[in-house]
Amino acid sequence: MASKQKTIFECQKCGHQERKWLGRCPDCGEWNSLVEEVFRPQSAAAKAAAGGSLPVFADSKPISYQDIESQDDARTGSGIDEFDRVLGGGIVAGSLVLIGGDPGIGKSTIIIQMADNLSAKGLNVLYVSGEESEKQIKMRGERLGLEAGNLLILPETNLEAILSEAGKISPHAVIVDSIQTVFSSGLDSAPGSISQVRQAAGEFMHFAKRTGTPVFLIGHVTKEGSIAGPKALEHIVDTVLYFEGDRHHNHRIIRAAKNRFGAANEIGVFEMTNAGLRPVGNPSEVFLQERPEGASGSVVTVCMEGTRPMLVEVQALVSGTNYGSGRRMAQGFDYNRTSLLIAVMEKRLGFQLGGDDVYVNIAGGLEVNEPAADLGVAAAIASSFKNLQIPPETAVFGEIGLTGEVRGVLQAQVRAREAQTLGFKKLIVPASNKNGLEKLLGTRVVGVRNLEEALEEIF
Ligand code: TYD
Ligand code: MG
Repeated sequence: MASKQKTIFECQKCGHQERKWLGRCPDCGEWNSLVEEVFRPQSAAAKAAAGGSLPVFADSKPISYQDIESQDDARTGSGIDEFDRVLGGGIVAGSLVLIGGDPGIGKSTIIIQMADNLSAKGLNVLYVSGEESEKQIKMRGERLGLEAGNLLILPETNLEAILSEAGKISPHAVIVDSIQTVFSSGLDSAPGSISQVRQAAGEFMHFAKRTGTPVFLIGHVTKEGSIAGPKALEHIVDTVLYFEGDRHHNHRIIRAAKNRFGAANEIGVFEMTNAGLRPVGNPSEVFLQERPEGASGSVVTVCMEGTRPMLVEVQALVSGTNYGSGRRMAQGFDYNRTSLLIAVMEKRLGFQLGGDDVYVNIAGGLEVNEPAADLGVAAAIASSFKNLQIPPETAVFGEIGLTGEVRGVLQAQVRAREAQTLGFKKLIVPASNKNGLEKLLGTRVVGVRNLEEALEEIF
């Protein structure tokens, strides 16, 4: 007969359930992620939450493709152009947007600035706050100098109460700050646990689609284990935006990790001022602002962030190690890719880097995930290794293959123009890209076939 199991252990990363505690989740392999929760016989709601399945739409009958009314993609501007950019051109009706980031990075700030702009257009915004009291929100608003005449604050954490209130008010947009504080009374597990967070996100999705209201969920990126983070919701929501960079810099970067209504990987660049987040009009200039003069180990490369070209400074430091073999460290660039480039330089160019520590850093807190930055990284390492400065008006881009060849990259034209606009005199690019490039006034473009040629050209 039914065993009297009272509690169950659930993985906070993937939702896997076990009858007893285990150090490692057998499903996703995460260590120390199983948390004891009250066991409930699986009701339909709990099953849906555990499986993270999408809400069932009211009457699901097949519809002929031709009968579906096309929705003109009318978007509402958020009043912040860099934020509209990451959303893919504005707020889409009925979309569910997740905004993730470390605590204190500026999630509540950007969202209340957006709410104020919508409110100024005469749109009602419902701000559900489970983290801060209405007084605290008011304090932030005053600091930001907000009017927010049409902003309604609801200090509530119960999912059913929130939905019923939202149903009554029918606002033009709903903000939930944060999703980890919301709990459904239909589930017994603690607020912030994976089943609660998924259940709440599923319900908000349902609400957004049914009413056509855009819903913004704020989620803290958490240290593994205790609370379910935004990663667990990525597959449920339409758009995932993450704050990049750290709190110790003034710059904040919001990246669209996923977007059903626009380009993924698009970034918006902001500056945190004492009057809130201010969009940065020309990010390339900002990223190059603090470039050192006359120092070795620094070079400018052009990367594509979504649809936008961006100039960034790559820095490298090569120094003798105190240990037997050198350490490698990369910030803002893939660690394995860095090791690979170092290996190519050792093998193909005869650089002896084995006994050196090599540090690579993308200045300004940006994360670059493109192979087109390879040439920049290799050039910076070579510059530091040889202690030779790279002329400050030179920019480089290109992918490096395992035989040391420099391979063509996408969007070479766009990249080259951005470098020209910012006054770079010399551009070192893959030979295969050079032919396609139109003449740039005032900028000399040099095509290179391999790393050796590139370094000869650079120094
Ligand atoms: P906040 O939006 O509350 O962070 P989150 O919601 O992501 O946890 O931002 C808090 C930080 O931003 C805090 O350290 C103070 C700083 N800040 C400013 O520098 N200027 C401002 O105008 C505001 C509102 C906050
Ligand atoms: Mg907050």
